[in-house]
Amino acid sequence: METTFPQGFFWGGATSANQCEGAWDKDGKGACFVDHLTAGSRQNPRIFHKELRPDVFYPCHKGVDFYHRYKEDIALFAEMGFTMFRLSINWPRLFPHGDETTPNPKGIAFYHSVFDECKKYGIEPLVTISHLEMPYYLCEHYGGWRDRRLVDFYLNLCRTLFTEYKGKVHWWLTFNEINGLASGLGFPGGILPEDGQPLMDFGPRTPAQINDCFNALHHQLVASAKAVQLAHQIDPENKVGCMILGQANYPLTCKPEDAFACQQNMMMNTFLCSDVQVRGAYPGYALRHFENEGITLDWQPGDAEELKNGTVDFYSFSYYSSGCISADGGGDRTLGNLTVTEKNPYLRASEWGWTIDPLGLRHYLNEVYGRYQIPIIVVENGLGAKDVLEDGKVHDPYRIDYLRQHIQAMHDAIALDGVDLIGYTMWGCIDLVSGGTGEMSKRYGFIYVDADDAGHGSYDRTRKDSFYWYQKVLRSNGADLE
Ligand code: BG6
Repeated sequence: METTFPQGFFWGGATSANQCEGAWDKDGKGACFVDHLTAGSRQNPRIFHKELRPDVFYPCHKGVDFYHRYKEDIALFAEMGFTMFRLSINWPRLFPHGDETTPNPKGIAFYHSVFDECKKYGIEPLVTISHLEMPYYLCEHYGGWRDRRLVDFYLNLCRTLFTEYKGKVHWWLTFNEINGLASGLGFPGGILPEDGQPLMDFGPRTPAQINDCFNALHHQLVASAKAVQLAHQIDPENKVGCMILGQANYPLTCKPEDAFACQQNMMMNTFLCSDVQVRGAYPGYALRHFENEGITLDWQPGDAEELKNGTVDFYSFSYYSSGCISADGGGDRTLGNLTVTEKNPYLRASEWGWTIDPLGLRHYLNEVYGRYQIPIIVVENGLGAKDVLEDGKVHDPYRIDYLRQHIQAMHDAIALDGVDLIGYTMWGCIDLVSGGTGEMSKRYGFIYVDADDAGHGSYDRTRKDSFYWYQKVLRSNGADLE
């Protein structure tokens, strides 16, 4: 079947400031908490250091030097034919501690220049306001999003962004993968591990930790709803979306108990946040869960009203893999994007163990569109793989293959299922520091960056085979996937 996408479909790529920009302490920027993370690997977790050590390499300090090379990078995106580029704001580049009232002019100027560069090529920026770049100071001194005052600091950031970049940016996402907190991971809420401990811990949680995560989440949901309203007030042209870590989980078997366990997992880990952000209130299953588990949220007068009035204009999500869930949790474990589930015997996995499942993307799109009936953008999708640069070339047929199948799945969701999918920003369009492992060698990009896991290299850019392939896809509006 010939694959064609609707006219005006947004094609592009996605990055985050903390994985890309580098220049972590330049021009008045403060530290993010991710600036305190070491590099790791599939086997060794990234470790959090309270005090930075001179003999340790912290990969986010260098990123891929986007701060100095953004003009070259955006020109390469334009050469591929991007019409949308997703990037995030480095919060402490604008507010070094996060609680200041006036922004750092050099930070403001930097993003003006980035957006001007996008405009030059007719690329719409899609801006994530917070993608793990929260100022370290806010984690240290306020305990992260557990503290209600973060809502106001975040809104101060939002007001600055919406006013300053009015007319230059129309598409916004409030929090990257906001549902990470609902799964019990503290770091998306700026709740730091102990000094010397891994970033991610999938072990059991104490009731106090669970309570903290849901309170941090509640504050983010209120902040998100207020941000949506503010964005619309400042510029009615603004469109604001939620951003959910999307995973199409299947029951491990057709036993009703497994199907039910899978449904419960999807409700609490995946749908809870978007149910609030799209529909404007906590769903009944979440309220019951809080009550039954003794979780008490910091409800303040007006919160319910804010959630109701601050619903998003579109739904966005990341999609890399699917997993399986059983009632007894007895299947072999497998890693995914910030998740541990059970292994699907019918699917193969990437070098990092993430299950590859293009049909799962179509399945997920149908689930979400059926539930919310609002426009959708896939804002992350891609394959982390090792690439080899030889004679100025990178041959990456595995990446082309992965992307081809996922783009075909999106097409089918639109053409055969009627899903209102309006855009696709492939993740890590230029190689960048892996969020989960801190490696450079887990590469996603169409553009190779000459840097290794220890930060050595020229940082020069090289077009991979997939660069030319994606260019062809975009020129044909998705019709030519060969
Ligand atoms: C998502 C994040 O979780 O997955 C990105 O939004 C991250 O920041 C991406 O990079 C891929 O994960 P990883 O661990 O392969 O970099």
